Amino acid sequence: MRTCYSGEVNKTHVDQTVTLCGWVHRRRDHGGVIFIDLRDRTGLAQVVVNPDNEVAFPVAERIRNEYCLRVVGVVRPRPEGTVNPDLASGEIEVVCTELEILNPSVTPAFQLDDDNLSETTRLTHRVLDLRRPQMQHNLMLRHKVSLEVRKYLDTRGFIDIETPMLTRSTPEGARDYLVPSRVHPGEFFALPQSPQLFKQMLMVSGFDRYYQITKCFRDEDLRADRQPEFTQIDCETSFLNEEQIRAIFEDMIRHVFKEVMQVALPEPFPVMVWADAMRLYGSDKPDLRVTLELTDVADVLKDVNFKVFSSPANDPDSRVVAMRVPGGGALPRSEIDAYTKFVGIYGAKGLAYIKVNDVSDVPGGLQSPIVKNIHDEALRQILDRTGVQNGDLIFFGADKATVVNDAMGALRIKIGHSEFGRSQGLFEEGWKPLWVVDFPMFEYDAETKRWTAAHHPFTSPKDGHEDLLESSPQDVLAKAYDMVLNGWEVGGGSVRIHRAEVQDKVFRALQIDHDEAREKFGFLLDALQYGAPPHGGVAFGLDRLVTLMANAASIRDVIAFPKTQRAQCLLTQAPSTVDDAQLRDLHIRVRKPKSEIKLD
Ligand code: AMO
Ligand code: AMP
Repeated sequence: MRTCYSGEVNKTHVDQTVTLCGWVHRRRDHGGVIFIDLRDRTGLAQVVVNPDNEVAFPVAERIRNEYCLRVVGVVRPRPEGTVNPDLASGEIEVVCTELEILNPSVTPAFQLDDDNLSETTRLTHRVLDLRRPQMQHNLMLRHKVSLEVRKYLDTRGFIDIETPMLTRSTPEGARDYLVPSRVHPGEFFALPQSPQLFKQMLMVSGFDRYYQITKCFRDEDLRADRQPEFTQIDCETSFLNEEQIRAIFEDMIRHVFKEVMQVALPEPFPVMVWADAMRLYGSDKPDLRVTLELTDVADVLKDVNFKVFSSPANDPDSRVVAMRVPGGGALPRSEIDAYTKFVGIYGAKGLAYIKVNDVSDVPGGLQSPIVKNIHDEALRQILDRTGVQNGDLIFFGADKATVVNDAMGALRIKIGHSEFGRSQGLFEEGWKPLWVVDFPMFEYDAETKRWTAAHHPFTSPKDGHEDLLESSPQDVLAKAYDMVLNGWEVGGGSVRIHRAEVQDKVFRALQIDHDEAREKFGFLLDALQYGAPPHGGVAFGLDRLVTLMANAASIRDVIAFPKTQRAQCLLTQAPSTVDDAQLRDLHIRVRKPKSEIKLD
């Protein structure tokens, strides 16, 4: 039906006859001559229909936007002054000899080049939305990324093995999506939160290197970088240590960026221990494009006359930090007030600051509502430690460590990305990957008063940390690692426990007793007894990686048919109610009809 794509017709085709198939992007009637921008997935070609073509011209008069056409025509250079340098096919046009309407279209729900469409409109009319060049680009980019991942992993001996979608609950810590069993009344499958347990069993089975690009399902609160159904590049290997595992997958990401984007990522990626990431950036996924850092100052503020600082300074669960903002002396009061409000979102009770007019004059050269409460020695130490210069500003955060990390970490990003931050050189464009390693093994859940696995319960403690599992779980570090890119966690993994006695100790620290462990993970524990090899792996969020590469605003822009923030598909109207008969088959009774259930 077609000899080439619209976006690929160029000067080399001049004087040739081509046949194009595609959609009417725009139709312009220039007093007698009709121009059609014909669009397909490669781009646009300009088709010219002259009135002396007595067959084609009346057809051209009838066509409207989004009609599907077949055009036969002769390629000629565009006349002087009408060349469009923005289009690959911008130097030529196709003079129509034959025009066939393959299928008309109803009037589109929106103009495809409208940049101000609401997400509801876009997701409801996703078929049209996906016709837009940006979305076509994003999904083609996604294809290239998966393809390069497969190529790379294949050359490294990884084999693609599928694992079940109808399975038991997996240990990633989110809520499960459940599927009722018809055959087994009252019983449910869980959709996998990840293939974690299966890939470990494949290692025990001797496959040595596994990968899969697969869907995972997590019923959790959604954000711009989270979907209930998302895609992992899931990998596992045997007989490699932590550094070797990281090296292979770091190389994979470098390969993908080079092949797909012609971008050379650093070699090797910087490696930062979790404790340093929290200390310097208040985050375990620091955006290293922002140059601002946090500086701990609690030790010099223990004895000041300012409770806001001295009480957290004397509390081991709290932090007092300073953040030097170069050039921040120029920030107007209104902006400081806006930042104070902003940190409030994260629970901060205020945002103390000092403007540094003259660093050599303490306290006279410092402008701030709080300096009168802080003795000169402490002020000098703070100036010294943060390295401030005249014209800078220092922000302070003082509270429980989690509040300070969240609030000051977010403020760091906010200022770095702001117009002010960019003008001051506090933001460096480009790609800043890193590994964050040595995560704590456990997190304390104040509600249940229990330690929970920070990664999952099969993650190996660092060598030499096994003995701390019972005595001081808070100090145990794990062989767990995350890959972070421009402030996004794009991947995470760990070396696994392959020996039963270590696994037992970890379960004990997690207060998972023998029966519970058997009930939940018995099949894995059994498998590990058959000479399980040392093994470990990683999973990358494909959606997140492509979002970054496409510079898209949300992961929904790189998924063909995503869910909304409220976990709905606006296109198919899923989830939906089902017939009583279906429910009966599944042995399920809905307690109240939808109309009577109040959601908050
Ligand atoms: P983890 O839970 O860290 O690890 O997930 C791996 C990566 O998957 C991506 N991701 C998501 N992307 C979109 N929406 C979500 N809701 C979502 N949740 C996670 C992130 C994350 O880094 N089994 C382990 C991996 C392992 O240990 O090998 C796991 O699933 O980019
Ligand atoms: P106050 O004594 O509450 O008026 O606060 C004096 C200054 O300290 C103001 O600039 C507040 O914004 C700031 N401040 C109050 N609480 C905190 C806090 N927890 N961390 C940082 N600054 C704070």
